[in-house]
Amino acid sequence: MRSKQVWMDGRVVPTEQATVPFLNTGLHYGLAVFEGIRAYRTTCGPAVFRLREHVERLMGSARVLAMPPIRWSEADIVEAVRETVAANGFDECYVRPLIYVSEGAWNLDVGNGKAGVGIAVWEWGPYLGAEAREKGVRANVSSFARHHPNVMMTKAKIAGNYANSALAKTESVRLGFDEAIMLDPSGFVAECTGENLFLVRDAAIVTTPTATILEGITRDSIITLARDLGHEVREEPVSRDQLYLADEAFVCGTAAEVVALREIDGRTIGSGRTGSVTRDLQQAFHAAARGESPRYEKWLTFVGDDPAKRPALATPFPSGERV
Ligand SMILES: Cc1ncc(COP(=O)(O)O)c(C=O)c1O
Repeated sequence: MRSKQVWMDGRVVPTEQATVPFLNTGLHYGLAVFEGIRAYRTTCGPAVFRLREHVERLMGSARVLAMPPIRWSEADIVEAVRETVAANGFDECYVRPLIYVSEGAWNLDVGNGKAGVGIAVWEWGPYLGAEAREKGVRANVSSFARHHPNVMMTKAKIAGNYANSALAKTESVRLGFDEAIMLDPSGFVAECTGENLFLVRDAAIVTTPTATILEGITRDSIITLARDLGHEVREEPVSRDQLYLADEAFVCGTAAEVVALREIDGRTIGSGRTGSVTRDLQQAFHAAARGESPRYEKWLTFVGDDPAKRPALATPFPSGERV
C-alpha cells in the first residue's frame, strides 16, 4: 500500500507522521466515519469520481453518528482531497477521508468529544483480485446477517459498522469464497461486505431496495448507466433463491468496481462467466470514470483543474487500456 502524503486537519504531512494518539475513542469504540473514493487517470490528468457525492455522504455519516462539530465544510474537504491526490502524484488511487473522535467521548456521549479529519490516498489495484474483473468471483450467503436498521445505521459509513463486514468476509474467505452476501434481518438479500448487489433475470436488472443497505454511489452510477443503455432497472426485494436463478449477478462498489458473481453457494450463475449485461456495464462504468464518456463528465472532479484550459474530454485511451 503506497501512500506518500496525508492531509491531517489542514496540513499535508509525510504518511509516517500521520499518526493519532492511542487514547482516542475513534479507535477504541469505532467512533469514526469514512469514505472510499477512487481517482482515475484521464487524458486531462487524474480525476476523482463522484467526489461531491462522496463528501456529501461523509458529512451525512457524521450527522447520523451525531459527531461533534467539524471545522471543515464540504467544499473544504473537496479541495483537500484534490490537494492530497496532487501531493502524492498518483495517476490513479484510492482516497480515504476519515472523520474521527479525536478527544473525549469516553462516556460514549459522542457530542462531548472533538472531531479530527484526515485524508489518505494510496495506490490500490482490483479489490477482489487481479482476475475478478475478467472471470468474476465466488460468493456465499453469510451466516452473519446485515445490520438491523435500528441497531446500526446502515446509511452511514461508520467505522464500527465494519466489524460486521469483517466477520462475514473473514468467514467467507476461510470457507474458500471470495466475498460474502449478507441477508437483512428479515431474510432478504441486502448487500455484500463492501459492495451492493445486482441480478439480471429475463433481461431486466434488479437490485435490492435501499432500506437496509448502504446507498452506494457506484450503485447509483450503475442504475443511471443501465437506464441510459436502455435496460429496465427495478429496485425490489430479492430472496436467496432468486440469486441462484439469476442469469447474471454482479457486485459494485468503489473499491471492487464492477465484478460478476460467477458462483453463489456452490451454484453456477448463468454461464459461470462474466455475462454480457455485466460486461457492458463494466465497460460503461470504466469509460465514465476515466473520462471517456463526455455525457458523464459531470461525475469527475479534475485534480489539476482549470476548466477553462482543459481540452475536451472526448479522446479515448488506445483500445485495450480501457478495462
Ligand atoms: C457495505 C457497503 N455497501 C456498499 C458499498 C458500495 O458503496 P460505494 O459504491 O459508494 O463505494 C460499500 C462501499 O463503500 C460498502 O461498504
